[in-house]
Amino acid sequence: MGLNKTDALVAVNDVSADAQAVGRPLTSSAIFLVATVKPGAANLDTIRSFCGDIAGFVRSIGFQDLDAQLSCVVGFGSGIWRDLFGAPQPKELHPFQEVRSGTRHAVSTPGDLLFHIRATRMDLCFELETQILASIGSALASTDEVQGFRYFDNRDLLGFVDGSENPTGQAMNDAVFVGEEDAAFAGGSYVIVQKYLHDLQAWNALPTEVQEGIVGRKKVSNIELADSVKPTSAHNALTTIIENGKEIKILRGNMPFGSPAQGEFGTYFIGYSRSPRTIEQMLENMYIGRPPGNYDRLLDVSRPVTGTLFFVPTESFLDDVAAEEPAASESTVEQTSSPEATRLQDGSLGIGSLKGKNEHE
Ligand code: HEM
Repeated sequence: MGLNKTDALVAVNDVSADAQAVGRPLTSSAIFLVATVKPGAANLDTIRSFCGDIAGFVRSIGFQDLDAQLSCVVGFGSGIWRDLFGAPQPKELHPFQEVRSGTRHAVSTPGDLLFHIRATRMDLCFELETQILASIGSALASTDEVQGFRYFDNRDLLGFVDGSENPTGQAMNDAVFVGEEDAAFAGGSYVIVQKYLHDLQAWNALPTEVQEGIVGRKKVSNIELADSVKPTSAHNALTTIIENGKEIKILRGNMPFGSPAQGEFGTYFIGYSRSPRTIEQMLENMYIGRPPGNYDRLLDVSRPVTGTLFFVPTESFLDDVAAEEPAASESTVEQTSSPEATRLQDGSLGIGSLKGKNEHE
C-alpha cells in the first residue's frame, strides 16, 4: 500500500493493479522489520485484523508529506500462513532454503511477518514502524529491525552503485507479480531478504580493478564490464538467469545500513520475484558457483546473518482477511475485554477504527 498509485503505469486489468507497493523506486530511507508471532489464537486474530488497518496507517502518516512517498509492503512467511489464512496457500511459499558450500553459508532464519517501509524521509518510516508496533507489538515474539539509508549515488557500502539493472514498467510487472500460474494469488509477489555484514577492511584492501571484476561493473562510472573482460564469477554474471533464451529478472530494493561505532557495515538485500526459484537459483550460483567452485567473491567479504522468504499478497487480500469474521474460538472470548474485541463487536475494522486507538495520535 502507498499513497500515490505511481505504479499506475500498469494497464487496467493488469494483475499488478491490486498489488501492494512492491514496485516503488528506491528511496533515500527504508526500514526492514522482520517479526515472529507468539503462539495463540488471540495473537493470530490481532494480526488478521491489523491486515485491514495498515493501509490507513500509511495514509494517515504519509499524508503529512505526500512528496515523501511513504509506502509499506507486508509479507507473510510459510510458518504462519496456514494459521493466519488457512487454505489455499501460495504455491511456492516455503521456508527459506539455506545454501552451504565451503565456508559460505546462506543461513535460514525465522520470520512470520515482513514490513518493508520506504520513504524519502526517515521520520515517516520511523513513525509508521512505531504505529505498527503499537498496534501488534503485543502479539510479536521477536523482531529484527534494520534502518537503511541512501549512500551517495545509490551506492552500497562497498562503493558500487546498487540497483541499476532493476527492471521497470511492464518488464518489472512481468518479473515480480504472480500471474495465471497461481490464479488465486495473482498480483502477489515472493520476497527474499538477507542481512549481509561486510568486512570493509578486507574489501578496501583490494585494488579497484579487482573489486570491479568481482562486481562486474566499473566503480566510478557504474558502466558494466564488457563480456570480453568480465570474469565468469562476477556478481552480475552469476545473478543473470536465462531460461529458454529469456533473461528472468528480479526487483531489488537493497539498502546500506550500519553503525561505524560498532564496526558494523552492511547491505540489506531484498529481492522481489514472481517465483522464489529465480532468487534461489541466483543464490546457488553465488554460493556454490556456476560451475561449482566458480563462486561469487563478494562472499569472501560479506556474510548473511539472516535469510527468510515471504509472500506478499494483494491489497484486496489484506482487506478481505480483516473483514472476515474470526472463527469461533477461545480467542473471541479472550478478546471481549480488549480494544480489538471492541472493534470486532462494532464491526469497524477500517481506517476510521484507528482514531483514538493509536498511542501516538
Ligand atoms: C552482499 C550483498 C550484495 C551486494 C553488496 C550486491 C551488490 C550488487 C551490485 C553493486 C550490483 C550491480 C548493479 C546493479 O545492477 O544493481 C548488483 C547486481 C545484481 N545483484 Fe546484487 N548484491 C548483493 C547480493 C545479491 C543477492 C543475494 C542477489 C540474489 C540472490 C543479488 C542479485 C543481483 C542481481 C539480479 C543483479 C543484477 C544483475 C544484472 O542483471 O546485471 N545480489 N548487486
